[in-house]
Formats: sequence, C-alpha cells, structure tokens
Amino acid sequence: MMRALKKLSDRIGMICINLRYLFRVARVRRSPEKEALILCHSLEKGMGYSDFSKGHGKEKAKRLMDILSKLREGSYAKDEAVAVLKAYYKAQDDSASLLKLEYEHSSKGYEGGYSTIDMSEITKKIDIDFAGFVDARHSARDLSFEEINSDVVEEAVSMARMAPSACNRQPWKFYYSLKKDYCDVVRNTIPSQDFLQNIPYFGAITSDMSLFDSSETGQWDINGGIFAAYLALSFHSLGIGNCIFQISKTDCDTTALRRKFGIPDSQEIICAVGFGKYKDGAKCLKAARRPIKEIAIEIK
Ligand SMILES: Cc1cc2nc3c(=O)[nH]c(=O)nc-3n(C[C@H](O)[C@H](O)[C@H](O)COP(=O)(O)O)c2cc1C
Repeated sequence: MMRALKKLSDRIGMICINLRYLFRVARVRRSPEKEALILCHSLEKGMGYSDFSKGHGKEKAKRLMDILSKLREGSYAKDEAVAVLKAYYKAQDDSASLLKLEYEHSSKGYEGGYSTIDMSEITKKIDIDFAGFVDARHSARDLSFEEINSDVVEEAVSMARMAPSACNRQPWKFYYSLKKDYCDVVRNTIPSQDFLQNIPYFGAITSDMSLFDSSETGQWDINGGIFAAYLALSFHSLGIGNCIFQISKTDCDTTALRRKFGIPDSQEIICAVGFGKYKDGAKCLKAARRPIKEIAIEIK
C-alpha cells in the first residue's frame, strides 16, 4: 500500500515538474527571426535544387521581403535575410526587386545562395587524424589554473558555430566568464561535485526557444547539444581541456546563474562547460565505449 502511494506521488510529482516546464515553454514569445531564418533556409535550399526555375520560391521571397523591417537593424538575421534575398533575385534575374532591396536595406557582407562541392578541397581538408584527435579528448576535471584570455575562447566558439542546426537557426549562445565570481555562480549551479574546484573557468550553453515553433518543443535541446559537442572538440583542438556538466531542468536552480549572466527565460540552459588549459599528468577516466556492433545496427 505504502509502495503504491509512493509510486503514485512520484508520478504526480513528475507530471507537475513537466507541466511547469511546459508552462515556461508556452510563455516564450516567438521571435520574428524564427520565420525569417526558416524562409532564408528554404530559399537557399530552393536555389540549390537542380530544377530551380523562374518563379521558384517567389511567395517565400515576397514574405521575407515583407518581414525584413521587423528584424533588428545590424542583427545576423537581418543581414542574412538581405544576403539571401540578394542571391535569390540575382538567380531569378529580377533586377527590379534587387534594386529595391539594395536601395532599402544594406547588408554586412554575408553571402547567400549556394556553393558547390569541391572534392579536391575536401580531400585536402579531411586529411587529418580525426580518429586520433577524438580519441585523445577526455572530459577534463583537473585543469591548469594558468590564465587564458577571451581570444582563445572566441576562437573555439568560432569553430563550434560551424555546427549544423535545424534550418540553420543557430539558436545557441555560450555565456562564459574568466572572472572568478562569475565562474563560481556556474560552479554552484552544477550539482555538488568536489572536483569542480579543480576547474578554473566555467560557462553555460543556452539555446533560444523563441526560434522554434510550438510543434518543435524540445528541439532546442538537440541543437544546443550538437553545439556543445562541437565546442568541446573545438576547445580540445586548442589545448583547452573541458568537461560538459548536466544542468537538469528539474533539479538545478538556475535563478542565480540567469541573474548573474543576464540569461533571459527564453534561453533554455542546455549544459554548463568547465574549461581551462590541460594539465599534463592529470588523471582522467578511461570511460570505455560500447562495442560498435551495439551502436551501429545494420538491418540486412
Ligand atoms: C550532457 C552531458 C552531461 C555531463 N554531465 C557531467 C556531470 O554532471 N559531471 C561530470 O563529471 N561529467 C559529466 N559529463 C561528462 C561525461 O561523464 C563524460 O563525457 C563521459 O563519461 C565520457 O568520458 P569522456 O568525455 O572523458 O570521454 C557529461 C557529459 C555530457 C555530454
């Protein structure tokens, strides 16, 4: 009887936690950037089709043109939308629309449209020991306290932003600080683990829920997670050891973290990341991997 009651109360607790999450999600107002970036992506895809023809994507281009003024001047979404529309009107030989666009909106030099696969370029660039590179990465929980500067973090983020995302919306941000009081706030948000004191710097990866439709609930986690993996590898490529930390939606109180870093409610916190230069000789886990056959399931 007691067991059944406990089970029931656990279930109700879980439902309440999930309802609270859904209420928070429902309160997020969709950003005009969402529609603009989806239209940009759709137009670019259209231009890449072999059967791209006169009039292809006309309605989408018109809609994108109509909502341009809703986008913040100087924002990535605005500049990308202008760049994609320029490429589109050029591809359509529509000089009147191109002129109107260039007259009304300036862009920051992004290039829209499509490029072509250059196999000789790819062959050159993939000639690296990628298997060795990923094998040498380990979650690092004991790092050097030697100072690093924000240039190296930006270099890592610059590589990590090449991660793929749904409709190229790039919903991620990496809030980080090299100042102790800020890092302490992230450290204190992560459920207590002794070794956190052995990591000098911390940040948090977030994903912008306002860039997703209600039918895409939770997709922000996937996009943010892919960015996290890219960031971990990018740091590693620069000799910056790092460890991703789970920030549970239900068990972690992120109020102080949000307040200190100014993270709005519309940004979902995906995970925390501790980082710093690798420390030679520090211990790391073997963390053996499952056999390939348990992961790659070929259906014959
Ligand atoms: C989403 C995610 C959450 C993680 N959370 C923690 C954590 O809370 N504490 C921790 O010590 N390691 C954490 N890790 C690191 C994993 O323990 C580690 O990736 C795994 O054991 C494999 O080891 P390796 O990264 O050294 O190859 C996390 C990793 C991921 C991807």
